[in-house]
Amino acid sequence: MKGLILSGGKGTRLRPLTFTQAKQLVPVANKPVLFYGIEALQEAGIEEIGIVVGDTKDEIKAAVGDGSQWGIKITYIEQEAPLGLAHAVKISEEFLDKEPFVMYLGDNILKSGIKSLVDEFKEKKPNSLILLTEVPNPQMFGVAELDGERVKRLVEKPKKPASNLALVGVYMFDSHIFEAVNAIKPSWRNELEITDAIQYLIEHGLVVHPHLVSGWWKDTGKLEDILDANRLILERITRQVEGQVDEESKVSGEVIIEKDVRVENSIIRGPAIIGAKTEVIHAYVGPFTSIQKECRIVRTEIENSIVLQGSEICDIGSRIDESLIGRETKIYKCPPKPSVYRFMVGDKSEIGIK
Ligand code: DAU
Repeated sequence: MKGLILSGGKGTRLRPLTFTQAKQLVPVANKPVLFYGIEALQEAGIEEIGIVVGDTKDEIKAAVGDGSQWGIKITYIEQEAPLGLAHAVKISEEFLDKEPFVMYLGDNILKSGIKSLVDEFKEKKPNSLILLTEVPNPQMFGVAELDGERVKRLVEKPKKPASNLALVGVYMFDSHIFEAVNAIKPSWRNELEITDAIQYLIEHGLVVHPHLVSGWWKDTGKLEDILDANRLILERITRQVEGQVDEESKVSGEVIIEKDVRVENSIIRGPAIIGAKTEVIHAYVGPFTSIQKECRIVRTEIENSIVLQGSEICDIGSRIDESLIGRETKIYKCPPKPSVYRFMVGDKSEIGIK
C-alpha cells in the first residue's frame, strides 16, 4: 500500500503566515503539521509516499527531504495549480501504479494515527474507506449522509448539511478511484472534488465503508484550529529539560526545554515547549505555548500561543493570549513619549489591542 499526502494549495485562511510559508509547515508543538501526517503513514507500515506539491514545493522539499529521516521513500508530484483534491489524485496515477493507497491531507492531524484503519481497509478490502466525525459546523466540510452502515450521499461544503458528519482528511482507495476522478467535472469553485469522486463510486455500485473517528481530529487550516491542535499535542508531552534554568526560575508541569535554552528569573507552566537557543528572561510562559528556536521572550507574559523561529517579544504590558506569531517578528514596547503605537505589519495581518 502506498501513501499520498496533499501538500499543495493556497492556505488563504492562514495569511499573512502563508504569504511566506507553506501552511503544512506551520509548526504545532514545534513540529510542522505535515510531519504528523508522514509519521502517521509510516507508523501504519507505509514505506512509499508521494507528496503533491504546488507553489511552495521548494520549502516542502527542503523540510522533508527524501524521507530517509523516517526510513521511507518520498516522491514529489508537482501540481500546476490547486485544481482540487481529485485532481491531485489524477496526476498521481503513475506514482500510485494501481496499488491501493491512503490519501492524507497535509494540513490534518489525527489523535490516534491511522494504523488500525489501514489494517481494517486491508482486511475488509472495500473500494474506499472514508473517515467521518461529528462537527458543529458541517457546512465547512465534505458532509456524509448515512443510511445505517451505508454511505448514501456525500456533498462538499453544503449550504444545508444533511448531517453533522464531516469527512476527515484521510481516505483509502483502490484503483477504481481513477475511473471516478477521470469522469467527474469541476465543482462550482472550479475544483475536482474528491467528495464528488467518492459519490461517483457509490453511484456505480462500488463499496465505500464509512468509519467514525473516535479520537480528536484537526484540520489546521485556520488560526483557532492550529492553536487547538497545539493544545491537544502539548497535552501529550512529557517533561524534558535540557537547557539552562536558573535558581530564580520555576518550571512546573510537562515542559520541554531544548538544548541551549536560557531561562532566567521566569515562570514556565506546562504543557509548553521552548525550542533550542531561545531565551526566556523575566518572563512568564503559560500552558499550551510552543516557542520555536532562537526566540527571545523578555519581560513578557504569554500563553495559549505559538511563536515561530527567531522572534523577539519584549516588555509587553499585558499577557499575550491565543496568538500565532510568525518568523523573525519583533514585538516591543515603544519609548514612553510620545505615547504611540508603532507598526510595520505585513499584508492581511491581524493585531488586537486593548
Ligand atoms: O479537512 C477535511 C476537509 O478537507 C474535507 O472535509 C473536505 O471534504 C475536503 O474537500 C477538504 O476541504 P478543505 O477545503 O479543507 O481542503 P483544502 O483546500 O484545505 O485542501 C486540503 C489539503 O490538500 C491542503 O493541505 C492543501 C492540499 N491541496 C488542496 C487542493 C485544493 C492540494 O495539494 N492540491 C489541491 O488542488
